[in-house]
Amino acid sequence: MNFFIKTFGCQMNVNDSEKIRQLLENKGLTLCGSEAAAAIIIVNSCAVRAKAQEKIFSYIGQFPAAKKIIVTGCVAQVEKEALFKKKVKIDYVVGTHQFYRIGEILDEIAAGRRAKAAAAFSRQWQELVPAVQARSSLVTGYVSIMEGCDNFCSYCIVPFTRGREKYRPMAAILREAEYLAGRGFKEIVLLGQNVNHWHEAKGGRTFPELLRQLARNVPVPWIRFITSYPGYHDRELIRVMAANRNIARHIHFPAQSGSTRILKKMNRTYSRAQYLEIVRAFRAAMPEMKFSSDFIVGFPGENDRDFNLTLSLIEQVEYESIFSFIYSPRPGTKAATYTRELAPDAVKQRLYALQELQARIQLKNNRRWLGQVSEVLITEKHPKKIGEMIGRSESYRVVNFASRTPVGAFTRVKITAAGPHSLRGEEITASNLQ
Ligand code: SAH
Ligand code: SF4
Ligand code: F3S
Repeated sequence: MNFFIKTFGCQMNVNDSEKIRQLLENKGLTLCGSEAAAAIIIVNSCAVRAKAQEKIFSYIGQFPAAKKIIVTGCVAQVEKEALFKKKVKIDYVVGTHQFYRIGEILDEIAAGRRAKAAAAFSRQWQELVPAVQARSSLVTGYVSIMEGCDNFCSYCIVPFTRGREKYRPMAAILREAEYLAGRGFKEIVLLGQNVNHWHEAKGGRTFPELLRQLARNVPVPWIRFITSYPGYHDRELIRVMAANRNIARHIHFPAQSGSTRILKKMNRTYSRAQYLEIVRAFRAAMPEMKFSSDFIVGFPGENDRDFNLTLSLIEQVEYESIFSFIYSPRPGTKAATYTRELAPDAVKQRLYALQELQARIQLKNNRRWLGQVSEVLITEKHPKKIGEMIGRSESYRVVNFASRTPVGAFTRVKITAAGPHSLRGEEITASNLQ
């Protein structure tokens, strides 16, 4: 039987999809390249904003009734049985902590059992390492190190979709990272909702120690980790990064707002001043350190002054890149009960202003690269332009160039053009060096 997996949402969902693929292939099923050829379609869903959640219904709506539709992931977790009442036909609902049972679930479907939801939370870490063949990339390997969130930021549904924090044992993390390094992966990305809150139940080792062990023992050129919560920052992390050159000099460090007043309402546990202090400490130890962030605009109660504080934070930090979102009320969260005074159009204007400022900063920073040589890891072929490759710099900047060097190689590119969102250049090869 053939299956297809459609993944929405964050990298943890991408990694969960790899695990689901592994389990289904273990059962003798075959992944196919398109929905049309698949008898079973797994929809690995995201619930973080209302729009993300709605996407799955229009996606499922396009398929004939004969296809078996299994919804997994975050929408499955929060909606459970309610998904069967939607207009689209869904055969099974599998929550975030139940996906490892996907094999048994298929047997139930094959036996013609009634549509069901399996969405119980589990405190146990389910150890499952997708083999190389089940991975979405052969260059970048994802390694989940923790799951869940205990922070309950007032706007966020993730604590309800991923449950309470649980941490994977250090030995298992090291084993998976070594496995990937041994298979030629060039970059390892540690995953978790709050990676910097990883710790061991016994032994008391914390995230900086885990990173140190990985950096020392796993021969990969770049180690990255997402997402770090500013409220859990530990100065030891900066020391470990500074001492280990194979940890990329880039951190995704979501601020959400530049106003301490709004941060409090968001239930974020740091102030603007504390956030800026951490950024300064990183840069003092590693002047080349780059930051990226997420911001929410239009949070209930955000006034002009608060918004201007967000803009000024962006100006001060000079992020490499930013994801910015309009606040979306999520059922069950604290902020969903707050009144929103600002008209949707005014919120949109704020989003545009923020994005315009960031584009200006990125353009200015990218222009500094003109004439310089950037080391890049070739991550993929350009999907449309033949002979074009897409690479990423250490700070995760996109670099486009013509090349015959294969995906997965490091190369050097002389930058010849700079836009706000990417750089273009000429690859330095043995032939054009003379
Ligand atoms: N664990 C990560 C966040 C995961 S969600 C962290 O703490 O940073 C990814 C991003 O989605 C968040 O950083 C936030 O900017 C955005 N987001 C989450 N809930 C949202 C909501 N209700 N409305 C708009 N954006 C939201
Ligand atoms: Fe959501 Fe906050 Fe947890 Fe991030 S830290 S997943 S934003 S509740
Ligand atoms: Fe979305 Fe769930 Fe990730 S809500 S952002 S897929 S943790």
